[in-house]
Amino acid sequence: MNCYGHFDDAAREYVITRPDTPWPWINYMGTGDFFSLISNTAGGYCFCRDAKFRRILRYRYNGVPMDAGGRYFYIKDGDTVWNPGWKPCKTPLDLYECRHGMGYTRICGEKGGLRAETLFFVPLEQRCEVHRVKLTNRSDSPKQIQLYAFVEWCLWNASTDMENFQRNLSTGEVEVGPDVLFHKTEYRERRNHYAFYGANRPFDGFDTDREAFLGMYNGFDAPEQVLAGTSANSVAHGWSPVAAERFDLTLAPGASEELIFVLGYVENPAEAKFEAPGVINKAPARAMRDAFATDAQADAAFADLRAYWDDLLGRFSVASDVPELDRTVNIWNQYQCMITFFMSRSASYFESGIGRGMGFRDSNQDLAGIVHLIPDRARQRILDIAATQFPDGGCYHQYQPLTKRGNNDIGGGFGDDPLWLLFGTIAYLKETGDFTILSEPVPFDNVPGSEVTLLEHLKISFRRVATSLGPHGLPLIGRADWNDCLNLNCFSAHPGESFQTYGPSEGPVAESVLIAGMFVKYGNEYADICDAVGDHEEAKRARFETEKMSDAVMKNGWDGEWFLRAYDAEGRKVGSKDCEEGKIYIESNGFCSLAGIGVREGLARKALDSVKERLDTEYGIMLLQPPYTRYHLELGEISSYPPGYKENAGIFCHVNPWVSIAETVIGRGSRAFEIYKKTCPRFLEDKSEIHRTEPYVYSQMVAGKDAPSFGEAKNSWLTGTAAWTFTNISQYILGVYPTLKGLRIDPCIPSDFGDYTVKRIYRGARYIIKIKNPSRVEKGVKSVIVNGEKIDGNVIPPAGVNERVLVEVTMG
Ligand code: BGC
Ligand code: NOJ
Repeated sequence: MNCYGHFDDAAREYVITRPDTPWPWINYMGTGDFFSLISNTAGGYCFCRDAKFRRILRYRYNGVPMDAGGRYFYIKDGDTVWNPGWKPCKTPLDLYECRHGMGYTRICGEKGGLRAETLFFVPLEQRCEVHRVKLTNRSDSPKQIQLYAFVEWCLWNASTDMENFQRNLSTGEVEVGPDVLFHKTEYRERRNHYAFYGANRPFDGFDTDREAFLGMYNGFDAPEQVLAGTSANSVAHGWSPVAAERFDLTLAPGASEELIFVLGYVENPAEAKFEAPGVINKAPARAMRDAFATDAQADAAFADLRAYWDDLLGRFSVASDVPELDRTVNIWNQYQCMITFFMSRSASYFESGIGRGMGFRDSNQDLAGIVHLIPDRARQRILDIAATQFPDGGCYHQYQPLTKRGNNDIGGGFGDDPLWLLFGTIAYLKETGDFTILSEPVPFDNVPGSEVTLLEHLKISFRRVATSLGPHGLPLIGRADWNDCLNLNCFSAHPGESFQTYGPSEGPVAESVLIAGMFVKYGNEYADICDAVGDHEEAKRARFETEKMSDAVMKNGWDGEWFLRAYDAEGRKVGSKDCEEGKIYIESNGFCSLAGIGVREGLARKALDSVKERLDTEYGIMLLQPPYTRYHLELGEISSYPPGYKENAGIFCHVNPWVSIAETVIGRGSRAFEIYKKTCPRFLEDKSEIHRTEPYVYSQMVAGKDAPSFGEAKNSWLTGTAAWTFTNISQYILGVYPTLKGLRIDPCIPSDFGDYTVKRIYRGARYIIKIKNPSRVEKGVKSVIVNGEKIDGNVIPPAGVNERVLVEVTMG
């Protein structure tokens, strides 16, 4: 049994039962443009729209102790000072429980007969966090206590906030109301936004100056004012503005008090910035605070949030004999897909929210996990991403969410990027059937007047890869492909040179077998789209190119027992038995096989057998073997990691589903499901001491067998693993696969998997798909009965909106 917590599936919550988890176990809140990260001890921060430029709360990454900064409630009860979430005081609690749910977190602590139940959530369509605190005196005697609510403000730009102290320490400004504290740094000049923290009753004392509240040399665990039960009523000028509010409460035995706080963000129009000279217009903040002033209002907002998630998660569910699978698919995997879609790789406990914008490649892949949930937002995202493409088919590798502009520091030149635009758009089309997206006008590099249709963007994406081939007829890799650390045109010999941007971006020699596999898979799907829109000539051309590519892979990308990974800038093999290190890689073997290359000839099977034999471990499949033990100038960052970590032979969870999918392509259901289970954190719950990250979400990477900490996960939450495992399990293993022409049912499962039911909304109709496997096969469909009538083949034609479609499938 795992000693840190358990799942509560009925509530869709993970329940953490002790605060000192092996690493902060966090949750996200927010569904629109205001987002929060919250740990199991209430640490974390929030931001509006952009985690770098509109950061509301200050957070100390890499802090000591870990996870410093958050929304802290302090309770002073006699001589004891404690926090419901244990941190920062770490006073031992009589009871502790944290429940991370869909877009909210509850933390409950009890000490000396006083129970504090807190609930944190971001209401739908609001730019604020709501904090509810209920205090109950469970003792026999009356209690006179002080409750403090505390947050520390970030000076908006999360990057300069940590660097530019000669300026920052003089800019902080606040305003104070009887029940709300306002943070207005820089509002006077270029900004039109401020933040506030308010309660639904006036406070008995306050502080807005950190030093006055904590004391110069104290940490969050020993605020001077809290220890004394007082407030300095300080007004911050420069230094570090905070919001600390004190409430003096008397609680009779058995009595409860409930307070509601709102931590909000406001943008004012230029003409309504001030209510008096130098005084910010507070009306919008007051309105936001007033919207959650009563229990009934807060209850209603919370119920709306729950309804939002109930509706979303009701769109795809499975009922099988494997509870770990059901809870993963029905709750946490889809939830993680949503969060990853919102954040890309920006803000987590491993991504600072400062360094990276939205990745072109990442964002396209994330679409696959949410397109069945929020198709309209997927549509907009595709158009935003496509608008960062260049006229020659290349793409900015990243763009900033605030401006939607491409990021010049990173630039372009990643050989795989154009194909991911095909991938994202195809996923959208197969799910929605909405071909109108293809005629949307989309500019290049966001330049007005340069618009062509999205279909044209797809065409140039395809062409770009089809025409950027190296000496073996395989795609040029450019700066890197999916594996950002295989930098074959980089040659960085000195520290400080970014592997991703150093050196020539477009070498004429280094080629990628992974991109070749992608080209075959998505090139063929692109051809299907061309057929669907009536451009049969282009479809023919595309299929001709993918055939040619397939041949090139079989001829020049096959190493005897597995697929090669690449050719370096001197035309030498990467990922070959002839290499001294890095003889076999996962990516090309997974992708070429799933694309169908060499399936008929038995090469795919051979490649997948080699993967199993050489790369598999109990925690998943490693990226390569043997690891690089020295730095290879010609390979770049991949060889900079110690053996077993990250791209250098770590278990990169993102690419494990590619192999699992490939196994379904050749019909090996047991093996496909075995791979699925190995990286699925639900099946690892008992190993939290080793695994360390949250057992309810995927992590990007688990240390491989060459690392001393084999099995230890890192980089949880924001990873393409979420979308790819969902795609794998829902479409390939459970076998409900959206096509341009309707849902295709083609499961590939272990023979003893048992019968199961998938419920799914597809193009507005509600499908109930019952799958029976009386002959215990791993793959193969004998009959499909739709609303009582047997159909030919296994593709169910789309039904009308709101129709209920009962599908009975018999495998065999
Ligand atoms: C990481 C990769 C990541 C890349 C680009 C590298 O340091 O290992 O996983 O894709 O940076 O940000
Ligand atoms: C993480 C990056 O976000 C992604 O773009 C890349 O494909 C993987 N790492 C593998 O290097």
